[in-house]
Amino acid sequence: MANGVLLEPLSPVGVFDSGVGGLSVLQAMLSHLPGECFEFVADERYLPYGDKPQHEITDRVLTLSNWIRNQGCKAMVMACNTATAAGANQARAAHANWPIVGIEPAVKPASMMTKTGVVGILATTNTVASERFKTLVERFDPLAKVIAHPCPGLVELIEQSPMPENAIEALLKPVLAELTRKQADVIVLGCTHYPFVAHLISKLAGPGVAVIETGLPVAKQLKARLESENLVNMRQESIPAIERVKFYTTGQPDAFKKKLVNLLGSEWREAKVHQLLV
Ligand code: DGL
Repeated sequence: MANGVLLEPLSPVGVFDSGVGGLSVLQAMLSHLPGECFEFVADERYLPYGDKPQHEITDRVLTLSNWIRNQGCKAMVMACNTATAAGANQARAAHANWPIVGIEPAVKPASMMTKTGVVGILATTNTVASERFKTLVERFDPLAKVIAHPCPGLVELIEQSPMPENAIEALLKPVLAELTRKQADVIVLGCTHYPFVAHLISKLAGPGVAVIETGLPVAKQLKARLESENLVNMRQESIPAIERVKFYTTGQPDAFKKKLVNLLGSEWREAKVHQLLV
């Protein structure tokens, strides 16, 4: 039971992000948890989260958590580093006994991987400035020097359809030049939008620099959490991914659908995207 709502293994898992970034996490969850269904919310009317005052993001986290819980979802994944930093504690306090999985930049694995002892983190301005991120970095301080680099404007470029790769490369070039000059040999993608430009980041960082993201670790964490709460959907028949997700956006459904197809492929052409007014 979560606040009087019965949690059922057959129910979907709710997922949200400010926009398409959460799709990078959704992809990992669809392949790692083939029995599960998802309700995906893109909060595009409030995008980008990365540059907004913290209390506005916390409000959005609480509004979306309430909506997702009232949909009957058995768990929620915050597929957004910025939202996790601004509101994971508040969402957990508001929804006791409801599994909530957040996402944080992969500082620990990166600190264990680096050979030069220098790790670069790319994230939004709000994530880098958050107390949660500072605490995370301090915890691994003895293992590696962490250089966090905010990338204002990058999320908005990734949200364009098609993505303007030249403009993205121009924005990223000085960032990667600085991180490699400082000897970073592991770059962490600390925003769920960034995996969609991981190829450009790898190209600019050059050979010998590892680029790591957190979609799969989050999917594994969700699986472990569902198992520990006896909430795994044990369904045996396999259902195509497109039938396992319901999409909602607080922005324009047609525009979101176009981005979905551009980023995840033409097999998502028939996906239904609903408008959400919260
Ligand atoms: N995708 C979000 C994250 O992981 C941020 C996007 C935004 O700034 O809205 O932090």
